Amino acid sequence: MNKKYHLIVFGCQMNISDAERVATIIEEMGYKKTSKLEEADLIVVTMCSIRQSAVDRVHWLDDKFKKSERKPITILTGCILEKDKKVFAEGFDYVIDIKNITHLPKILKTKITHKTSDRLFWEQDNITNYLDIKPKHSSKFSASVPIMTGCNNFCAYCVVPYTREREVSRRANKIIKEIKGLVKNGYKEIWLLGQNVNSYKDKEKNINFAELLKIINKIPGDFWVRYTSSHPKDFKQDVIEAMAEGNHITPYLNLPIQSGDDKVLRSMKRWYTAKQYKKIIADLRKKIPNIAISTDIIIGFPGESKKQFNNTVKLFKEVKYDMAYINKYSPRVGTSAFKLKDNVTWPEKKQREKILTDALRETAFENNKKLIGKIVKVLIDSQKDGIYFGKTDTYKSIKISTFAKASVDKQNLIGKFVNAKITKANNWNLEGKTI
Ligand code: 5AD
Ligand code: SF4
Repeated sequence: MNKKYHLIVFGCQMNISDAERVATIIEEMGYKKTSKLEEADLIVVTMCSIRQSAVDRVHWLDDKFKKSERKPITILTGCILEKDKKVFAEGFDYVIDIKNITHLPKILKTKITHKTSDRLFWEQDNITNYLDIKPKHSSKFSASVPIMTGCNNFCAYCVVPYTREREVSRRANKIIKEIKGLVKNGYKEIWLLGQNVNSYKDKEKNINFAELLKIINKIPGDFWVRYTSSHPKDFKQDVIEAMAEGNHITPYLNLPIQSGDDKVLRSMKRWYTAKQYKKIIADLRKKIPNIAISTDIIIGFPGESKKQFNNTVKLFKEVKYDMAYINKYSPRVGTSAFKLKDNVTWPEKKQREKILTDALRETAFENNKKLIGKIVKVLIDSQKDGIYFGKTDTYKSIKISTFAKASVDKQNLIGKFVNAKITKANNWNLEGKTI
């Protein structure tokens, strides 16, 4: 009988993408995937350390594995802080750094423990080797392609530079080859991933991020390209030009500002001002008028006063975001902000989150209303009871329940592009009909 494995993934798109590589390695070892934790012989958890709440969920699993009668092999990988590795090694059989995952078969055979596995392969491996593993994509039409990993920025609140170490970029020819392969296999949406894609650099060929986008724009085929994450301090005019070329790069950008107050930005070690950020947005809108923009925010960073928070609200009203990912500050051991007093209370953080969400709702709704009557390209991703759901090129969720032509073969719409006319705007999504 085939042995079975179960994957548990926490965190961002990069972790999901990492898990798709882990799946390849495990399946090469003869395991078959199961969605049931209880029947797995091998369980892999890809963890996230960005917020304490994510770490706490792994503690819960750790505890569960310790107490369990059944003894499947349990592996922890992903973004793990050095100090947590020791703690989690009590419940998990193996705690493996993600870049050493290529060695998993060897590690399992030799019963190497967490204490030695990291160090053992550290020097031998180029950090990007694991990114070259062909992933087991979880979708048939949307795929992620990591272009770089790690981060050199050390924002005061962030664990990523400690869990993923310094920035390393993949070679452009490998990225292009992977994208061409996906397009050939019918993929319609490709996400370029990295902690800070704007500092991408293929040093040997001297290709930066904008040049990479321009090369990708020339690949033939009908497909979209999106990317994340960007850092405003590294976001340069050449990227705007590459985006404005259109073709494959979609008119959508997530540009995390984190705070709208310059003093808070300085203590966050973000190295740009609200004015500089707004200039980027103005340049983007000038060159790409239909662009949709989202951001990331941290609410209640140590010392954030009501007045400083109000500067974020003001900025939200000025920038008129389409979407925002609003996070309540979570102190992380080892980061420079950990030394600062987490002095904005939890109820206050929640209150500020509500105020900002209200401001966002208004601008998102205003932006959505402007789209009524417009025809947009949509990638259909799911359906329920004859209603189809998808994303526009601007990454807005859309619901389609009316199909203009009776001849449309609705069964085959998932993973396909359709043209839709927007008939209704809601706060967080659109409604439309195919034309
Ligand atoms: N607390 C809260 N949010 C955080 N983020 C990163 N670190 C923290 C933290 N310590 C948020 C940032 C980042 C997103 C991925 O997670 O907004 O852009
Ligand atoms: Fe974290 Fe800042 Fe790096 Fe983003 S740029 S991963 S927020 S340290």
